[in-house]
Amino acid sequence: MTGFDLIIHGGHVVTPAGVLAIDIGVKGGKIAAIGQLYPDQGNDAIDATGLFVLPGIIDTQVHFREPGATHKEDLHTGTRAAVLGGVTSVFEMPNTNPLTLTAADLQAKFDLAKGRAWCDHAFFIGGAAENADKLHELERIPGCAGVKVFMGSSTGNLLVEDDPTLERIVRNGTRRMAVHAEDEPRLKERKHIADEAAHPRAHPVWRDETVCLKATQRVVGLARKYGRRVHVLHVTTAEEMEFLAQNKDIVTVEVTPNHLTLVAPDCYEKLGTRAQMNPPVREQRHQNGLWRAIAEGVVDVVGSDHAPHTLEEKAKTYPASPSGMPGVQTTLPLLLTAAYHGKLSLERVVDLLCHGPQRIYQIAGKGRIARGYDADFALVDLQAWRELKDEEMGSKVGWTPFAGSRVCGVPKVTIVRGNVVMRDGELIGKPIGQPVRFAETFSPSS
Ligand code: DOR
Repeated sequence: MTGFDLIIHGGHVVTPAGVLAIDIGVKGGKIAAIGQLYPDQGNDAIDATGLFVLPGIIDTQVHFREPGATHKEDLHTGTRAAVLGGVTSVFEMPNTNPLTLTAADLQAKFDLAKGRAWCDHAFFIGGAAENADKLHELERIPGCAGVKVFMGSSTGNLLVEDDPTLERIVRNGTRRMAVHAEDEPRLKERKHIADEAAHPRAHPVWRDETVCLKATQRVVGLARKYGRRVHVLHVTTAEEMEFLAQNKDIVTVEVTPNHLTLVAPDCYEKLGTRAQMNPPVREQRHQNGLWRAIAEGVVDVVGSDHAPHTLEEKAKTYPASPSGMPGVQTTLPLLLTAAYHGKLSLERVVDLLCHGPQRIYQIAGKGRIARGYDADFALVDLQAWRELKDEEMGSKVGWTPFAGSRVCGVPKVTIVRGNVVMRDGELIGKPIGQPVRFAETFSPSS
């Protein structure tokens, strides 16, 4: 009997019930059956023998630079890098040029993504003084991931440095709000440290622990006052994790592979400004705190904070050099390699990269291998070890801070809503990415 568009058979499937040796039937872009199936039941079949079948990765923090800085990245190249890394959905950040502050700005991004994005996508609306009173409506536009606030200045000029403006933003919305928590007044006070050092090893000294803790405490205080759920992005300090653990009823937490893998001061000596990002990569004691928070369940999500800059831009003398590094393609193998080394389980990798994003952002029909969900998958070979190489990166900037690292679990096949879009490092077919749907913003007919 046929009846399915695609059968994935023979793999170890990571389901909510654990890792099972079962088959998956796909129909109309959705998971239609899970159980024992036969290849001839589908118009097409993928033999996943020896592979692990994971839900497609949902990367909830990427910067794809379009519009405004397409010499670094665009929606086509950013999503190309994504599917090369097993990522089937991305949430893109609003610090583009122009900033994403209005309904028209959001629509412009959806239009630019149409026919050019390899994976599904959502866009954040930036929270700022000029749109604070309209955020309640803006965050409900279908395909909008919610509001993102920068409390400390980074790439671009999206910034909310004072509490009265922050309070207006927190008050004017109900969806979970994503925050870059660095305290701008303290950053300004201490900038001389970076200027005098003229070397990126001073980056975590300038943007110190207190910069982060202070901002996180400010935003969580306001969140509690208004009962607003907040998501603190790229948490870097052991102290914040202690504080966040006391506030888990209202707060969710992201860490990045960069902060889990690179360590100060070595990374700055070895990689120079390539390792420069905001908030900074810190010393071992903080990294230990992040891993502890993963083990204790304080961390909900790993996001890449894919923030590409060209090597020419990175070659400027610190602190004129821009902050950020590419990462959307390397998150999954880095975490699977950490799992191999016993830092976390395979199930926890999937929890952080798939279930966590779905849960905190209320994504409709993604992030689990379950009947009725979108047929988004990453098929990985955990036995195959590879060296990460700059020239294999799909990002326009063509480099990775992890070049030379040996990893397992580089994805072999990526599937977006039943369409195979990547196999063995080659893109297949056309960019068929669509806006991500959210349970909180369904229109009556959707
Ligand atoms: O290092 C960073 N780079 N941190 C951010 O928050 C922004 C990002 C960028 O857009 O380059």
